[in-house]
Amino acid sequence: MNYAIVGFGKIGHALAKAFARNGIEVAVATTRDPESFAADAAAIGPTIIPKTLAEAVKADIIFLAVRFESHPEVAKALHNWKGKTVIDAMNTQAPLEQLGGRPSSAFIAKVFTGARVVKGFNHLVAAVLGQDPAVHGGRRVVFLASDDDDAAAEIGTLAEKLGFAHIQLGRLSEGGLLVHARGKSWGHLIFKDLIAFDR
Ligand SMILES: NC(=O)c1ccc[n+]([C@@H]2O[C@H](COP(=O)([O-])OP(=O)(O)OC[C@H]3O[C@@H](n4cnc5c(N)ncnc54)[C@H](OP(=O)(O)O)[C@@H]3O)[C@@H](O)[C@H]2O)c1
Repeated sequence: MNYAIVGFGKIGHALAKAFARNGIEVAVATTRDPESFAADAAAIGPTIIPKTLAEAVKADIIFLAVRFESHPEVAKALHNWKGKTVIDAMNTQAPLEQLGGRPSSAFIAKVFTGARVVKGFNHLVAAVLGQDPAVHGGRRVVFLASDDDDAAAEIGTLAEKLGFAHIQLGRLSEGGLLVHARGKSWGHLIFKDLIAFDR
């Protein structure tokens, strides 16, 4: 299994830190030549590999860490996203009508044709997400939602490998709405920094 983070801004950096902390290799891509952010990647750790977008999307599991308005450009990187698991870490202020009445991740699932989409890693500010999730004797929680149970389970396993606890919220249009930005109102779990204590 290999991984990529598309977008190497605030959330991309926070995610990359989690991979580096656990010695897991991950490709990172932006709109720019990988050379231009190689030093930035190296400063996080040796497992953070700068790549072009075209190379990065060869990964099996791909985090979307771009601004919502940039996702159509990213989607064009592959004709068909079948076989890929896409983690939608984006939030959007776009009104529901603009999303065809669907939650934004369900909208993303249509744009990234064929991909298995999991919403997650989007509910905390980057400065918190980027911290070591081992806190107060427990583990910081990430919430996951998907219409594909297997994909949600796969990303749950990845979240654990990255040191987080995870809570499955169910389908995008059900529990997923708890971490969904809906126009100007936000799901009740957005910004809720929860810690899980293993018994
Ligand atoms: N910041 C937060 O605290 C936070 C918290 C939760 C969720 N989020 C969500 O996370 C997403 C990213 O936010 P951010 O604050 O990290 O944004 P950001 O700092 O502006 O970073 C955006 C990144 O996306 C890259 N990008 C733009 N278009 C691209 C394309 N077509 N292909 C590849 N890369 C592209 C940019 O690369 P270039 O430099 O080449 O333009 C940049 O590295 C947003 O959807 C936001 O809602 C953010």
